[in-house]
Amino acid sequence: MYPYVIVNVAMSADGKLSTCERRQVRISGKDDFLRVDKLKSDCDAVMVGIGTVLADDPSLTLKSQDLIDERRKSGLQDHPVRIVIDSLGRTPLTASVLHKGSGKRIIAVSNAADDNIIAGLSEYAKIIRVGKTRVDLRLVMDNLEKLGIRRCMVEGGGTLIASLVALGLVNEFRCYIGAIIIGGSEAPTPVDGNGMTEEITFPKLELISVEKLDDGVLVSWRLKENKCLCT
Ligand SMILES: NC(=O)c1ccc[n+]([C@@H]2O[C@H](COP(=O)([O-])OP(=O)(O)OC[C@H]3O[C@@H](n4cnc5c(N)ncnc54)[C@H](OP(=O)(O)O)[C@@H]3O)[C@@H](O)[C@H]2O)c1
Repeated sequence: MYPYVIVNVAMSADGKLSTCERRQVRISGKDDFLRVDKLKSDCDAVMVGIGTVLADDPSLTLKSQDLIDERRKSGLQDHPVRIVIDSLGRTPLTASVLHKGSGKRIIAVSNAADDNIIAGLSEYAKIIRVGKTRVDLRLVMDNLEKLGIRRCMVEGGGTLIASLVALGLVNEFRCYIGAIIIGGSEAPTPVDGNGMTEEITFPKLELISVEKLDDGVLVSWRLKENKCLCT
């Protein structure tokens, strides 16, 4: 069975993940930050697209020492496995995700990635080659399943999330809506990509919960089986 995939993002009240220059913005507050850290700690892996690595340079590590200690007591590694979806191996060798914190990293690349670049990255991460010119996300899920990853959190960005949604690979969609407006027609949104045009293909959601957190709200949805198999 494919891993259970939970998308978790923070967007502004007007539905943007960052600015039109793709500059990271603080959208949530302390309580939401703790919630996200706990969610991450409860997952076997956390995944992002290369766009997010290049824009934000996240480490994808757990920040709370208490959560790290709890994982250690349960015999788990300090941090969930960190996964980057990166067709051409554009992850910089200096990226925080490769250096901060202990534990496994995976970079999923396509066959179009240069062998020398892959050799460099393989010093820091396990490399999975799947897909001709773009990472094949279904094959990524096959590989994760074989590695024993049962629960995977996806932190963004909108391009990766769009592909996962379109392939029917997302189980839950958790969206924190923060008390700011960012604006900009080019600013990233939770689900970018090409979008769906036929109503029959719009993935349907079932509301799980709505919770006030900091100055905003957290809305959690479950994806119903969807008929959308576009790319
Ligand atoms: N507020 C939040 O919660 C939050 C969270 C995360 C990110 N962000 C923001 O989102 C922005 C980055 O998002 P983004 O949409 O530009 O990038 P992204 O979704 O992080 O990464 C997209 C890239 O992944 C690669 N990729 C490889 N195979 C893919 C596939 N099958 N489907 C989709 N993508 C695939 C593609 O590049 P290659 O073809 O070169 O591999 C693609 O351009 C930044 O501004 C960041 O600050 C916000």
